[in-house]
Amino acid sequence: MMNSLNVLQERINSFLATYISQFTCSELQQAMRYSLLAGGKRIRPILVYLTGQMFNCSLSKLDDAAAAIEAIHTYSLIHDDLPAMDNDDLRRGKPTCHIKFGQAQAILAGDALQTLAFTILSESQHINDQTKISMIAELAKASGLNGMCIGQSLDLQAEHQTVTLEHLQQIHNYKTGALIKAAVRLGALACGEESKPYYAMLDSYAQAIGLAFQIQDDILDIIGDQAIMGKPQGSDIAQEKSTYPALIGLQSAIKMTQTLYDQAIDSLRQIPYDSQPLQNLADFIINRKS
Ligand code: IPE
Ligand code: IPE
Ligand code: MG
Ligand code: MG
Ligand code: MG
Repeated sequence: MMNSLNVLQERINSFLATYISQFTCSELQQAMRYSLLAGGKRIRPILVYLTGQMFNCSLSKLDDAAAAIEAIHTYSLIHDDLPAMDNDDLRRGKPTCHIKFGQAQAILAGDALQTLAFTILSESQHINDQTKISMIAELAKASGLNGMCIGQSLDLQAEHQTVTLEHLQQIHNYKTGALIKAAVRLGALACGEESKPYYAMLDSYAQAIGLAFQIQDDILDIIGDQAIMGKPQGSDIAQEKSTYPALIGLQSAIKMTQTLYDQAIDSLRQIPYDSQPLQNLADFIINRKS
């Protein structure tokens, strides 16, 4: 990961470590802490920070939103790995939460991380009440029936099936794109009025990198190195998942990430602020090996 992104990754890591450590140690707290601090690229928090920073927002105003979205994301990974879903035993280079703590505790750790996200936002000392409500609404919508959860539901329904490209795109937009879009929106919301004229351009950037992110994830499931990814390679094929490489072939899938990258950069060009860091992140997303 690039140097400038590393700094933000370290910032969210230390924020999350401090936050989760304030709770008394219990099996549940340990399971949450285990998955939350296991590593991870922290792409969604970084998106919150970079979007906010572009509009000159201070990082301290962005920490709570960054932590909240990572809590939701980590919960989604814990549940995604459960035997009832993708049944994977390696995540972020370590045994998955249910392998380490058992299924019941892993389910509860996911549940409690989800509600923790909304506690973090509602108790924030750095954002005003109106902004909090907007952020809570945004994150809730992106997580649930109109976002990640419906995407996960459709993903499971699409196993052992050949779906249309249009339907697969919809699955990816929901299960992964929605939270990525929410990350950019949370960063923009923290900036108040200054970012408002650019919501549409930011959405179109996020839409493109969100889809590219999941296509690259699908590609890495085939050609990635398990030791670098920290999660199993070949999981999608084993479960006959509907993925971009499965549907259109590996080369076309790779081409598609490049097209989406170009679209993302075009969207940023319409924003009269320094968008270089967001461009760099788009570049990282399509070229990443983990
Ligand atoms: C994995 O997300 C799940 C998807 C949405 C593709 P990440 O690739 O962001 O996983 P971490 O957070 O870095 O572990
Ligand atoms: C999961 O997609 C997306 C989530 C909402 C967690 P995948 O099932 O492909 O993610 P990985 O490959 O297990 O990280
Ligand atoms: Mg999955
Ligand atoms: Mg999975
Ligand atoms: Mg995957």
